[in-house]
Amino acid sequence: MRALQRAAVLALALCFGAAQAQPGGDEEVPFITTPDRVTLAMLQLAGVGPADNLIDLGSGDGRIVITAAKRFGARGLGVDLVPDLVARSEASARQAGVADRTRFRVQDLFETDLAGFSVVTMYLLPEVNLKLRPRLLALPPGTRVVSHDWDMGDWAADRTLTVDVPEKAIGHEKRSRVHLWVVPAPLQGLWCGPGGVSLQLAQQFQRVSGTLQLGDEQRAVTGRIDGARLHWLAAGSDQAWQALAGSDGALQLQAVPSGAGPQAGQRLRRAAGRSCPAS
Ligand SMILES: C[S@@+](CC[C@H](N)C(=O)[O-])C[C@H]1O[C@@H](n2cnc3c(N)ncnc32)[C@H](O)[C@@H]1O
Repeated sequence: MRALQRAAVLALALCFGAAQAQPGGDEEVPFITTPDRVTLAMLQLAGVGPADNLIDLGSGDGRIVITAAKRFGARGLGVDLVPDLVARSEASARQAGVADRTRFRVQDLFETDLAGFSVVTMYLLPEVNLKLRPRLLALPPGTRVVSHDWDMGDWAADRTLTVDVPEKAIGHEKRSRVHLWVVPAPLQGLWCGPGGVSLQLAQQFQRVSGTLQLGDEQRAVTGRIDGARLHWLAAGSDQAWQALAGSDGALQLQAVPSGAGPQAGQRLRRAAGRSCPAS
């Protein structure tokens, strides 16, 4: 893990350039702040509000967590390797009047438990994002992940914004990108419903494709997952299907094209084996 930390911070230094980096207590750990307008864009893009518990991975001077609490009423935790930055964050949170809703910890982000957070924010590096990706994808469906500038490889963002930042000291472009991902429910596999209905899905992050079986009729489907909600179209029809993945493990049909057979409200359940039981 130490090797990984060192690789991450060295990559940060190389990417941002030592001249622009404002060293924290440890010269090896570069610290670059997200400009205020980009912080606001990140929090707005994620739709942060009072019900949210946010975590900023590599929280620097704490500005994302503090702004989330002060402007949007959220609770938040910031973790950073540099003790001086954590102390500075705590002092700023007190000054901003949000110490009761914010916490800061000296902690390695790779060793931080992400359970219980509805929003994850990051201003790290592409390879660090990729390293975190499996843990982010395992979070509950609907968790929002926002990254300043860096993407998540072939896990395409659900939305990307560009924010003009004339004062940006890093890189050639005077703008930042803000990416949002909504963690998709894992829906790959075979789903079985009443009356000979089944849905076979292959999943690539938010995208699905597969086959819908309606009695004797088989149709190719394509669709996408938005958190716990699955939307799909079957070949030959422009009427959308919609289903919601529930905490009981079932997929509940919410919208069904007219005359398709099954009814909204009916549930599909994961096949126990490689085929659905005969109905
Ligand atoms: C580019 S700064 C972003 C600061 C803040 N999130 C912001 O957007 O203004 C990255 C921060 O990550 C911290 N960091 C780097 N590697 C880390 C690790 N493995 N665990 C925790 N923090 C780390 C650095 O100390 C630095 O403060």
